Order: sequence, then structure tokens, then C-alpha cells
Amino acid sequence: MNEKSNLRTPIVSVMGHVDHGKTTLLDKIRGTTITSGEAGAITQHIGATEVPIDLISKKCGDSNLANKFIVPGLLFIDTPGHHAFTSLRSRGGALADLVIVIVDINEGFMPQTKESLEILKRFKTPFVVVANKMDRIHGWNPTQDAPFSATYQNQSQRVKDILDQKVYEIVGELYEAGFNSNRYDRVTDFQRNIGVVPISASTGEGIPDLLMVLMGLAQKFLESDLSYDADGPGVGTVLEVKEEKGLGATIDLILYDGKLRKGDTIVIGSSGEPIKTKVRALLKPNYLSEIRTEDKFRQVNEVTAATGVKVSAPDLENVLAGSPIRAATGDVDRVVDEVKKELEDIKISTENTGLTIKADTIGSLEALANELAEEEIPIRKAEVGDISQRDIIEVSAIEDQYYSVIIGFNVKVLPDAKEKAQFSDIKLFVNDVIYKLIDDYKEWVEEKKA
Ligand code: GTP
Ligand code: MG
Repeated sequence: MNEKSNLRTPIVSVMGHVDHGKTTLLDKIRGTTITSGEAGAITQHIGATEVPIDLISKKCGDSNLANKFIVPGLLFIDTPGHHAFTSLRSRGGALADLVIVIVDINEGFMPQTKESLEILKRFKTPFVVVANKMDRIHGWNPTQDAPFSATYQNQSQRVKDILDQKVYEIVGELYEAGFNSNRYDRVTDFQRNIGVVPISASTGEGIPDLLMVLMGLAQKFLESDLSYDADGPGVGTVLEVKEEKGLGATIDLILYDGKLRKGDTIVIGSSGEPIKTKVRALLKPNYLSEIRTEDKFRQVNEVTAATGVKVSAPDLENVLAGSPIRAATGDVDRVVDEVKKELEDIKISTENTGLTIKADTIGSLEALANELAEEEIPIRKAEVGDISQRDIIEVSAIEDQYYSVIIGFNVKVLPDAKEKAQFSDIKLFVNDVIYKLIDDYKEWVEEKKA
């Protein structure tokens, strides 16, 4: 911990289209190589990585950074491209304090990039855009880990022109999405303009610049938001519920406020009554390693925000990803009420008739429901989880043909459900992009009516 301040580590979420380089970027910052170890190099789970300020200074080539900045470091969350970044929310807003939107410079904006921007707009989260894979520009002359200006100077005029053009296109796309932006070194006021940082996650070029921009944003925008009571009861968001050998169901969570101790009573949101249980063990990955790839955890007695931690405790089987979690140090009933209230804030209003929707987390379900509400499409039932046989049976009983439909966002159709659906009149829509789901559904309704 940084003794100079009571500022917690800012939480930085990396968002972007599949394969645009989220994991590679974090690997590079961390100096490890998770991407090559992953099946098909696809991120299967969400992970969190803490990067302490001294490592950031080293990467920036500025040993004085720790004295200049009062945030203790950065906590990076990697969300897989097919995953709902929206699921990561905290009380009343987005879980991330800052966001990196990553764009493949050669491909430009993609559906998931646009969706990220919509969500950032709604939550008003400060962000920086990274134009990745600049080393793929034909004729690129790489200098490992060099700052942007240094490597830019080493490029031929042709390469410079291509790079400028690509950045210009991204600035145009951002403008269309409702944001003023410029290449980061031309931005004077980051409150009014979004910085675009050209980088290569592979060669590390531009990463010092990115880290500097992030630190600056964190410092500038977040001083008030990041002050916290390090000794207060822990508050967090569940990333994932995972079965671990010898431990049973465990939860990976991001603690964004206070302190969590071994033995603490914790209250966790669920689809029914909140779950009350006691922390049996707190398991922590080491600095610069990632929750999802670390198989040897070390036990700790307490953790302080912001951090990623695995919690082992009884009765975690039915916890939903995206749920709020709170330590209850005094009056447990009061904390149960608080958790209930937090869940009510993200309750989805349902009608007697309408669509059945499923999503992978509470947050993604909420995002889908919001978009449907905007289209005035009613929802009959909204649930977290894969599409199951039970869902098919339930929806079979619906008479209105336009609502004999299940919409799945970031979920699977379980095999027996698939089979059952084939022999029914139920229409399934499954996708990783919300507006694709809504467009597909609307199109299908139009066709049916025609
Ligand atoms: P998902 O987790 O599946 O959404 O993808 P991701 O955004 O994490 O992308 P990932 O980091 O796995 O990168 C996808 C592919 O692009 C991998 O083969 C990387 O090696 C490659 N890649 C990423 N960044 C760069 C870069 O800066 N330059 C080059 N040449 N290749 C890159
Ligand atoms: Mg990835």
C-alpha cells in the first residue's frame, strides 16, 4: 500500500472487439505470456492484474513517477471480446474507473467497439482509445518497448502517413459516436477530448505513453472518487463463480472499497434472498500474475481495495456473476438490506407477456433489458444463465407467436434445450452483441408479419 494517501488503486477495464489485442496488451504490461498459453488464444474468463506504481514507472522510463502520482498503481481487468463488459458494475455505476478501448488499427471500429462506446457514454466513464497493432503497417521499423514519439521518428514517411491516416479514421469514427478526440500527444484537455494512443501490444511500442495517459487520467479525474476508507467493511463485485479442486465453489471478486478479512461474514446478492456466509479463506494471486492462470494461490488474512481476490466459503454454489458482495462487520441485517437495495436498483421490470431473455451476468442482463426497453419491447422473464430445457418448456406455453422467443446474450443453448427447441415453434436468438440480437428479432417479427 501507498502510505502517502488513502487513494485506492484505480480499476482499469480493457474493452474491445474480439482479437483486437486486449490480452496481449495486458501480457505485455505484465511481461508474461498468457495469450500463448490460452486455448486458441481466446480469453475464457475474466481476470484481474495488479500493476504497482514502481513497475509502471519502470515501463514509462520515469523513476520519479511514484513521487509524482499518488495512486498506488493500476488494477487491470481483462474482459474477453465475447463477454459483456457491462457485467462489471459496482454500486450505481460501472465498476471500472477508467477504460482502455482497444481498436485494431488495421481493422478500425467493429460492432463490439461501438457497443463499448455506448456503454461508456451511459456510465460516463473516462477512457482512452488504443490504436493497436501499428507494427503490422507494412514497412514498420520496430524498436522494442519504445515510447511512441521515438519510434514514430524512426519510420519512413510512407509509414508515418499511413499511421496518421489510420489514426485520423479512428478520430472520425469516434466523432460519429459522439466523442471529440485526437492523437493523445495533441490533446491538451483530456476532459474535453479523448486521447488516441497508437501502440503495438506485440513490440511494446507506445505502451509507456499509454501508461502515462492512464496515470494522468486516474490522477486528474479520480482523486475524489478514489479516496476510500481502507479500514471500512469490504465491498465488491463477483466476477465469476468457479469450482476449485478441494475447495468446492469459490468466487473471484473485485473488491473496490474497504477491507475484507478471513472470518468476515459476507452477504452476497442472489436471485432469491441474499446469501449469508463466512470467509473461510482468501486466496490471492501474486503481483503481476492473473487470477485466471494462477493455479497456486497464496492464502492471506486480509485484502484491501482495489484488488482481485478469490474467496472460499460455504454456500457459494448459487452466487450469480455480477452480484454485489459486502462484508458485514456489525449489523448483518442492515447489510442484507443494503445488498437487497443494490439488487433492486438493477431489477428488470417484467410484464405478463413479452420476451424471455437470458444473459451471463446480472449486468449484461440489465444492459440487454435497457436496450429492449428503449425499443419498447416487453420482457416476460429475465434470468442469468444458459438457455435450458426448462426455458423451452416454459416458453412453449406462450401463445403469442411473437413472444415464443428466447433471447440469449453471451449464453449457450444447452444440448437438451437445443434438441427440444428443434421440435417446437420456439425461436432462439443468441449473440454476443446486444444490438445484433435486437435487430435480428425485429427483422424476424417484420418477416413474420409480412
Ligand atoms: P479475445 O480475448 O478473444 O477477445 O481477444 P483479445 O482482444 O484478447 O486479443 P489477443 O490479445 O488474444 O490478440 C489476438 C491476436 O492478435 C493474437 O494472435 C495476438 O498475438 C495478435 N496481436 C495482438 N496485439 C498485436 C500487435 O500489437 N501486433 C501484432 N502484430 N499482433 C498482435
Ligand atoms: Mg483476450
